[in-house]
Amino acid sequence: MTSILTSRPELKAALDSVAEVAGYLWQKGWAERNGGNLTLNITEYVDEQMRAMPAICAPKAIGVTLPHLKGCYFYCKGTGKRMRDLARDPMCAGSIVRILDDCATYEIIADNPIVPTSEISSHLAIQDYMIECGSGYKATLHTHPIELVALSHSKEFLDSEHLTQVLWSMIPETLAFAPLGIGVVPYALPSSTELVEPTLKQIRRYDVVLWEKHGTVAVGPDMMEAFDQTDVLNKAANIYMTAKNFGFTAEGMTPEAVQEIRDVFKLPNQR
Ligand code: 13P
Ligand code: ZN
Repeated sequence: MTSILTSRPELKAALDSVAEVAGYLWQKGWAERNGGNLTLNITEYVDEQMRAMPAICAPKAIGVTLPHLKGCYFYCKGTGKRMRDLARDPMCAGSIVRILDDCATYEIIADNPIVPTSEISSHLAIQDYMIECGSGYKATLHTHPIELVALSHSKEFLDSEHLTQVLWSMIPETLAFAPLGIGVVPYALPSSTELVEPTLKQIRRYDVVLWEKHGTVAVGPDMMEAFDQTDVLNKAANIYMTAKNFGFTAEGMTPEAVQEIRDVFKLPNQR
């Protein structure tokens, strides 16, 4: 069977990069079984032939109405599919969907009728926001980074401002590459539309969102950048944990040292 990627080198290159990230997620131990999911806005690569492609499944509800997604196309990881399989072949572990004119349903157009991730409502709501605010961002990434999820089991770290300050103070690069920090969303059933609004609220303000006792959601111009932001914040959590394992609590950089980095590198404090 011919893939939609055949003779579309730009689309293939974009999905090759997504596959590379999926491999990193597996190597890091953040993607057990089908853990984690991602979407990439691929509308810029869509040609007339793709627009004319018939659906290969009945329309499915997103769960929310997203006015800025009309006529957009996304690559989505399939529900129940493994990141380590996606790393080998994105079209065997995901599919390409078209958002219909009602902005509340989608249909799959290629390659196979692989049902998108159960977290599609949160991913697409964020995609809608990223278009609305003109960010140019194309990627959303949900994963299960071990140390950040572990921290979310402590009441102390369910406070977004406190968690952000602790992580920023672990190593200077955290602030430099995640200058908006991390926002916490209280526990809600995975895949429920209950997660959508609180996640949107936090992603408007923070670089990365931490779903309590579950995982993170990050955004970026491409999947590699979304991965990097998650990685930078999880590295800080890992340093905090390593100090604990040595038997002490990491002192952390002083608030003045953190502020100096913000000033010298002229870091943004809002999107
Ligand atoms: P999916 O397999 O449906 O993408 O779910 C994985 C997951 O991490 C749910 O939060
Ligand atoms: Zn998850």
